[in-house]
Amino acid sequence: MEKILVLHGPNLNMLGIREPGVYGAETLAAINGKLERLAEEHGVELEIMQSNHEGELIDSIHLAFGAKNGILINPGAFTHYSYAIRDAIASVSLPTVEVHLSNIHKRESFRHVSVLAPVAVGQICGFGAYSYELGLLALLQQLRKNG
Ligand code: DQA
Repeated sequence: MEKILVLHGPNLNMLGIREPGVYGAETLAAINGKLERLAEEHGVELEIMQSNHEGELIDSIHLAFGAKNGILINPGAFTHYSYAIRDAIASVSLPTVEVHLSNIHKRESFRHVSVLAPVAVGQICGFGAYSYELGLLALLQQLRKNG
């Protein structure tokens, strides 16, 4: 059974309250519940973590080395400028899928760049909470295709 680390970056603990017009009304707990159900259906084990701190996200990426098969990450605003998170992902070289609730490419120009995308398998954005489900399925497909 594959083991996946699911990481939610800064301010995602505020989902449901935070800019619902942009991010939807669903809470992080509701999104995590959907991911857990999908994981069970597909026979994969999740460890889910949210942090507002760059270093904590980096620590958990390091801990995934040798312990997990892949990473599903919504890095929040760190997407746009955290070379440290990018380097952490490159260090562990685990297949990583980047997800966003909103379509970052049709928002403010500072959101158009992802410094993590070049070290990710791919990026899914713009589907609200469903981006996470698509991301998990895409990651699993990637892992299983590679054996
Ligand atoms: C986000 C997009 C980021 O630009 C923003 O800073 C977030 C959430 C998204 O899921 O749409 O915190 O990653």
